Amino acid sequence: MFQRFVVYRKRIVGRLRLPLDVLRTGDNPASAREEIKLENTETGGFAALGIAGVLLKATENAGMTEPKPIQRQSIPAQIEGRDILGIAQTGSGKTAAFSLPILSKIIGLGDKRRAKTARALILAPTRELAVQIEETIRMLSKGAHVSTALVLGGVSRLSQIKKMQPGVDVLVATPGRLTDLVRENCIDLSDTRWLVLDEADRMLDMGFINDVKRIAKATRKDRQTALFSATMPQEVASLAAGLLHDPVRVEVAPQGTTVAEVTQVLHPVVTKEKKRVLSGMLTDPAMASVIVFTRTKHGADAVTRNLERDGYNVAAIHGNKSQNARQRALNGFKAGSVRILVATDIAARGIDVVGISHVVNYDLPDEPESYVHRIGRTGRNGASGAAITLYDPGAENAKLRAVERVIRMKLPMKDAPAAVGPVPVGPSTERAETSTQRSSDNRNRSKSGQKSGQKFGQKPGQRDNARSGGERREAIWTNDGAGRDSTSDQRGPQKKRPFRRKSRAA
Ligand SMILES: Nc1ncnc2c1ncn2[C@@H]1O[C@H](COP(=O)(O)OP(=O)(O)OP(=O)(O)O)[C@@H](O)[C@H]1O
Ligand SMILES: [Mg+2]
Repeated sequence: MFQRFVVYRKRIVGRLRLPLDVLRTGDNPASAREEIKLENTETGGFAALGIAGVLLKATENAGMTEPKPIQRQSIPAQIEGRDILGIAQTGSGKTAAFSLPILSKIIGLGDKRRAKTARALILAPTRELAVQIEETIRMLSKGAHVSTALVLGGVSRLSQIKKMQPGVDVLVATPGRLTDLVRENCIDLSDTRWLVLDEADRMLDMGFINDVKRIAKATRKDRQTALFSATMPQEVASLAAGLLHDPVRVEVAPQGTTVAEVTQVLHPVVTKEKKRVLSGMLTDPAMASVIVFTRTKHGADAVTRNLERDGYNVAAIHGNKSQNARQRALNGFKAGSVRILVATDIAARGIDVVGISHVVNYDLPDEPESYVHRIGRTGRNGASGAAITLYDPGAENAKLRAVERVIRMKLPMKDAPAAVGPVPVGPSTERAETSTQRSSDNRNRSKSGQKSGQKFGQKPGQRDNARSGGERREAIWTNDGAGRDSTSDQRGPQKKRPFRRKSRAA
């Protein structure tokens, strides 16, 4: 049995809405119209998509027996060697969609790795997401002797440099620390033949684009590139074209589509009432595992303090915390020892925690696409979930309109529920991070921002801010005094830094 995919040649410049079984490629919509025959893979599992046999057992052990639509549609093209732009909803299996073909190809390689090189590079916008992707890749390649490394800010560089010394098959990195280590000749990307941008629209927005371009330029000219996301605003999509060569666009659902299994509701609440309303809502035991998103770090701290004061089991994750504190909060939430995670948009993208029952938007995000990613932390992989947005009608109208434009639907409005039980009052069982710890974290961060010397992407004599710059690149919105988050997944104005690579064969 064969399934027929019609392929149009079309430049990627904007949003395309495609039926499930249509792939679009290339440059000229009118001139070329190809037909590609793919095996019917409905029942053939991953083997029928061309995934190397040695990966099939690990994939099955990871609970993946039947490919998801994004996997079914994008893996064969990647195995064929095509560049790809993959758009599919949150929680729909994009990680395996880009990892499995690369792993398959790496396993088939006979050549030896050179020191400090990486055969494949996967870039992610946040450290936590990079950690998670590397874990997934290790899980999917168990027993296949594939080496992996993680390079990200906020943790020791030494162990990362050591890990890279012999060269690795797959490097997962955040752009800031990677740029630093490439500048310092601790990592050599000249052998990198696979490049993936996960959360591609974020990686191509103002905050990351310069680093990403530099990094891409340092990889092999004939590299294969894959960009994946659940959102792809038009203005960013055109930048994607510059990184891709004759790409296939696979769009399982139009960008910005939210997951049908997630019920969405708006509660009109004036800002000063939000704390009380949130605390009351959380008395509902059905809200078993909740992530509360705030727009700012300051807001996240305030909400966390309030919930702690009310006796809730809560942890916070945002960019002013040390990497250890961030990962500890996330791990506690994943393990179920923390019921409520209060987060900035640092945790909005990609984070895969099974069993989140509710996402609460304490306020609407500045960037409308973030709404899609925030609520996508629930309702993953076919599960159901609920997304509740506390919306101040006097202050958040424009933001709401922007969100509704992206998701192409109106959000239903309902009064906030009254508390179903007494709001618990008493000290939290979770250890609150003290202000001493917080300031020590901050001290460590600023200490680590001191370095000198000409670096990858820097002019001779240019003031070195590699590490702090790396942090700033990750910390894209500098704290503007309004408590706006300055974490690795935020975008905003960034000074253009001149780029000059050290002499290196292209
Ligand atoms: N073929 C499959 N069968 C069963 N489960 C799968 C399959 N593919 C992926 N999953 C599971 O689905 C969950 C979501 O996958 P993943 O994190 O890759 O989603 P995503 O599309 O990257 O979402 P996001 O846009 O939020 O990053 C994971 O827990 C993963 O293990
Ligand atoms: Mg993902």
